[in-house]
Amino acid sequence: MKLYTGYLAIHKFESELERELELKGLTVCKKKDRLYLVEGEHPPMIWAQTTGFNMQFIEITSIKDGAKKLKALGRNWGLFTVDFHRRAQLIQEELPKFNQKPIPFRHPLPEKAMGLWTLWEPNQILGTPQTSSPFALGEMTFQEDKVIPPSRAYLKLWEFFTVYAPEAIAGGTSIDVGSCPGGWTWVLRTLEFQHIISVDKSPIEKRIMDLGRIEFKGESAFGLDPKDFAEIDWFCSDIICYPERLLNLVKRFKDSGKVKNFVCTIKYQAETDWENTLKFLEIPGSHIVHLHHNKHEVTWFLKGAHP
Ligand SMILES: C[S@@+](CC[C@H](N)C(=O)[O-])C[C@H]1O[C@@H](n2cnc3c(N)ncnc32)[C@H](O)[C@@H]1O
Repeated sequence: MKLYTGYLAIHKFESELERELELKGLTVCKKKDRLYLVEGEHPPMIWAQTTGFNMQFIEITSIKDGAKKLKALGRNWGLFTVDFHRRAQLIQEELPKFNQKPIPFRHPLPEKAMGLWTLWEPNQILGTPQTSSPFALGEMTFQEDKVIPPSRAYLKLWEFFTVYAPEAIAGGTSIDVGSCPGGWTWVLRTLEFQHIISVDKSPIEKRIMDLGRIEFKGESAFGLDPKDFAEIDWFCSDIICYPERLLNLVKRFKDSGKVKNFVCTIKYQAETDWENTLKFLEIPGSHIVHLHHNKHEVTWFLKGAHP
């Protein structure tokens, strides 16, 4: 039986996934809408919102037969539907229900594996019980705080600390560059850092400043000298700038040996800057992900840079 790795591209970023697969030397052998299949076993991609491992084609004779065959493989199934919607929905309705409600910040992730399936033909399912995300189709949502944070940018840092750094222990110093109007600074404040250095050319909102323990520097982040800082536990950046400028800033702080962990948004203009994105990945131990709350941008992180 042939097995495939299935990459579900992020809506509107299909060409980014196609370029990424090409850069990795992977050939797409089949495609349905934004679901791309590559033969064999391969790792997740930045621009896939979820990756299905060992996907297989399964012949079915009826709706009940389809549901029975999926249930035999796993419990939780996220449906990606392109064609034959009604029939696909009827199969989905026969499958066990699962909780897909928005979660609170830093809530433990679902432990059960999440499957991915689509009705490829009326009598043929493509599916796998094992994907890269515990959320159906990789779509995670939060119980949002619509009162305190001054912008929705905080959701990126919520997602990062919930999914990629749940073990992060606060209490030390964090720096937030490109911090206005204050969403990320607010998240760092709720994480109980003792000292939060917030840097932007524009001020953050007063009500965030008033929470205390925040030192605001009204200047360009690119003029910061690591020599002027003591140890930094988390260096966070959401600056709007060219990726190359951010890369140089990050390298300066990393080379200083003063920063333990980094989380930075790499933002793109019209085109995705692959050249500098790949340079970020050359920094040992680092990762790049496209968070569910990222737009035309990705999140670079490095944990334990200087333990
Ligand atoms: C997307 S916003 C940040 C939103 C913020 N993370 C939040 O949660 O509210 C990007 C910020 O980068 C800032 N920025 C752009 N160039 C900068 C520079 N050279 N130094 C510091 N901040 C800069 C802008 O002023 C803007 O406030």
